[in-house]
Parts: sequence; C-alpha cells; structure tokens
Amino acid sequence: MPLGVTIIGIGGRLGSTIAREVIQDDRFKLVGGIVRSDSDHVDKDLGELAGTPWINRMSVVRLEDGLQGADIVIDASTPQSTVAVVRRLTENGGPALISGVTGFSDEQFDALRQAAETIPVLTARNFSIGISLVEMLVSTAAAALPAELWDAEISETHHRYKADAPSGTALVLGEAVANARHQMLDLVAEKSRSSADARRLPGAIGFSSRRGGAIVGDHEVGFLSNNEEITISHRALDRRVFAVGALTAANWLHGRSPGLYGMRDVINGN
Ligand SMILES: NC(=O)c1ccc[n+]([C@@H]2O[C@H](COP(=O)([O-])OP(=O)(O)OC[C@H]3O[C@@H](n4cnc5c(N)ncnc54)[C@H](OP(=O)(O)O)[C@@H]3O)[C@@H](O)[C@H]2O)c1
Repeated sequence: MPLGVTIIGIGGRLGSTIAREVIQDDRFKLVGGIVRSDSDHVDKDLGELAGTPWINRMSVVRLEDGLQGADIVIDASTPQSTVAVVRRLTENGGPALISGVTGFSDEQFDALRQAAETIPVLTARNFSIGISLVEMLVSTAAAALPAELWDAEISETHHRYKADAPSGTALVLGEAVANARHQMLDLVAEKSRSSADARRLPGAIGFSSRRGGAIVGDHEVGFLSNNEEITISHRALDRRVFAVGALTAANWLHGRSPGLYGMRDVINGN
C-alpha cells in the first residue's frame, strides 16, 4: 500500500516540489494539500500545483479536510502555520509530521517538542542527504582544529525570496562547529558585523548571507588559520534534492513511536 501524504504549503516552492515527487513515486500517494485561506492556490487540483497532470484532488484550507488517508503530513509552510498544525495533529492523535520549515523561535520550537510527546515529529532545516554528510565533516574538522588557531566562518547564498537569515542550514552547521568545540552557539555567533568596530572576537563563529537570483542553496564552512585555510562546501543544484530527502524521511518515520527526530536519525538508520 502506498504511503498517504498530505502537504502543508503545497503551493510554495518546497511544497510543490515535494508534491511532484510524491505524485511520481509509486511508494507514495498524494492525498491532501493544504493552502492559506486567502491564497491564490485555494481549490486547485493538486497536480496543477505540483506541475504534473491533474490528479482529481483539490487543495483545501482546513487541515482536517485534507487528512483523509494520510499516513504522514509534510509541512513546507511557515513557522506560525507549523505551530497551528502540530497543535491540531496532537489533538487529533496524528498522523506523524515532517517539518522542513526554518526560522522557528525557541517558543515555536517548544511547540514541536511538546507535540513529539504524543506523535512522531521529524524536523529538518535541510532535507538534503549531502548536507547531513557535510555536517558530520564539519564536526570532525572543528573537533580537530583548535578554536584559538582556526577561525570558523560560515557563508550562505540563497534566492531573493528567502525569508530568514542566516539560513537554517547555516545555523545547523554553526551548531556542529560549536558543539565540537564545547561552545554555546548563541554565545559565540557573530551574525551581524555592521559596525565601526566589527573585529571578530576570539573563538567566534561568523555568519554571512547573500540573497539574490534563483540560487537553490549554497553553504560554505571555512576554517582559517594564519597559514592555511580549509573550506567545506555544499551546493544544492535542484530543489528536487529536498523532495527526495523528505520522502526518504517519510518512509523512515512511518510507524515510529512518538518522539522528536532529525535527518541524522534517518541517515544513521537508528
Ligand atoms: N528543509 C529543507 O530542506 C528546506 C528546503 C527549502 C526551503 N525550506 C524552508 O521551507 C519553508 C518554505 O520555503 P519555500 O521556499 O517553499 O517558501 P514559499 O514558496 O513562500 O512557500 C511557503 C508556502 O506556505 C504557504 N502557507 C503560508 N501559511 C500557510 C498556512 N497557514 N497554511 C497553509 N499554507 C501556508 C504559503 O502560501 P501562499 O503562497 O499562499 O503565501 C506558501 O505557498 C521555509 O521555511 C524555507 O526556509 C526548507
């Protein structure tokens, strides 16, 4: 039996890419698509939103109207919408949720943690399998390179519509550096350097963001010493990479116990 998938934010860039992948993969069935009430995407065939032939299933606004036959909900909307969705799924007793949304406040993320006590929840600021490997490489490098000698700098570039900066993935990579160095990222992150005295502090982890064009997502972690530099980088060439990762996660999450999971669990096959 194919796994039934409902997508929140199916009209958006990520949501529509995941929808296309679901429609084209026999292991899955697209059973619902949720859109914003005042959106242009209300009451549209889900195939049309996904850029495939029509599938005779329409987008809906109320979550409950799009859950029939759903084994997994994949969320590609906004932090506010995600919080509303997890509350309703918890009340409903499921199904499991995968959220690829970035830019949660601590309070919003607590709502996901709370929901994970009742239903399986997987969050991923980047669904790419390659980025998960980069995260591991960055941890290894940061553990081997003393912070007093090697400055860590993270830079990222995304398309002109991206809302949050630094990107969720840049923060994941920053956390990988900080954890390997036994630092708290919040205490050492330098995210804004627009000042007359913007010299980096010893042990700082610097972030810089570029926005423009249609760039899917470039990330680079540099370790810079007085005599040499190491760069670990990743480029997403096609948004499809996120959709493939999201579906790998969906297969993995289905049938799990309640809990909060991430892509590392998927890759490590925990
Ligand atoms: N994890 C990953 O691998 C990954 C990859 C890429 C992006 N992202 C993240 O995914 C999120 C979406 O990115 P995007 O580029 O796809 O943005 P986007 O194109 O703006 O899509 C967001 C969609 O959510 C919809 N939406 C907003 N509120 C909603 C609600 N209450 N109910 C249902 N739908 C709602 C929007 O509807 P309207 O169109 O009507 O406004 C829009 O279609 C961002 O947080 C982004 O950073 C994650």
